[in-house]
Amino acid sequence: MSVKIAVLGHGVVGSGVVELFYKNKKSIEKHAGTEMDVKYILDLRDFPESPYADKFTKDFNDILNDEEVTSVAECMGGVEPAFTFVKSCLERGKSVSTSNKELVAEKGDILLKIAAEHNCNFFFEASVGGAIPIIRPLHRCLAANDIDKVAGILNGTTNFILTKMYNDNMPFAEALRLAQELGYAEKDPTADVEGHDACRKICIISSLVFGKHVYPKSVYTKGISDVELCDVAAADVLGHAVKLVASVRRTESGKILPVVMPTLVSYDNVMAGVNDVFNAVLVYGDGIDCTMFYGRGAGKLPTASAVLGDVIEAVKHKVTVFSQSWESAEDDSFIESVDELKSFWYFRVPYDSEIDGVEAYNHDDGISFITTQELTFAEAKAKAEKLSALAYMPVL
Ligand code: HSE
Repeated sequence: MSVKIAVLGHGVVGSGVVELFYKNKKSIEKHAGTEMDVKYILDLRDFPESPYADKFTKDFNDILNDEEVTSVAECMGGVEPAFTFVKSCLERGKSVSTSNKELVAEKGDILLKIAAEHNCNFFFEASVGGAIPIIRPLHRCLAANDIDKVAGILNGTTNFILTKMYNDNMPFAEALRLAQELGYAEKDPTADVEGHDACRKICIISSLVFGKHVYPKSVYTKGISDVELCDVAAADVLGHAVKLVASVRRTESGKILPVVMPTLVSYDNVMAGVNDVFNAVLVYGDGIDCTMFYGRGAGKLPTASAVLGDVIEAVKHKVTVFSQSWESAEDDSFIESVDELKSFWYFRVPYDSEIDGVEAYNHDDGISFITTQELTFAEAKAKAEKLSALAYMPVL
């Protein structure tokens, strides 16, 4: 019997899912152990020229009420109507595989519970790191470890922009436009530039690794809109690359500290060499020491690859995979205040500031760049105020 799947959304990722499915149908079926076909594609737009024109529907109920459809790929993005659609599918026992970071970061605990209650699966490998396998390794291959820290470059668009700024001296706005053309950026690229997308991804990783739902509102998040070409050039002189780093660690108090910040990453650190749209995730555990996962973090086929990997898993697993879940959190008392974050720091300050950094140099346009000894975020903020700093970032 052929397993019927439905794809919700025919944007960059959804169209990639259909394209890759038909390109590799034979081998996908071999891995799934059964024949498969796409029965529906849900989208409100018309695609009369599409080779799959006969599969389109504008009515979600066609999918929901069709008992033949047992596996659904959700590639719509946003919380609604995605949440309502995914919830309804899971309540009917249809497994869902999603690329929707916002949905998992905001509603993951609820959807995982519903999936377990209905003996099906809510999978989200594509929601973090694009093509990179990271969700399944975290709860399967690395399950024997006590993981105490995860850090990574989790947004392809900002990494692409920062790379263009560094390699080609390309202004921010031009690099962003290019990222949009290449299909990397979110519908509203503010989510990329201001760090919200990376925040959602570190929320998902934090929830999975530490077992309680971490909401985006609980995570200190700063994007790259204040990073200037002079910071990228100064970082280079200081032996660092500027990267948007998302991380979570267990602190001495036993709480966890998730955070997203543009960061000066030393050229000795592997993350400094992660460029363009590539993402990297470094996982630290007592058995593995450190393991790095690396690959394309955004784009049509890389993300489609992760969605389809989940669809194949969903077709193979007739019962809920319990290890890929977490509990709801009543409050965020298990999350440490960002003020306690300890780091070395970089400051961009006016030329006449009182320089008391570890390393400093003056630029001929009236700006100085300094790095400091280890300070907490609260101390760095106070210092930034005292120096009238124009920008400051942690140094790794
Ligand atoms: N806009 C996201 C990024 C897409 O640039 O990483 C992949 O999640």
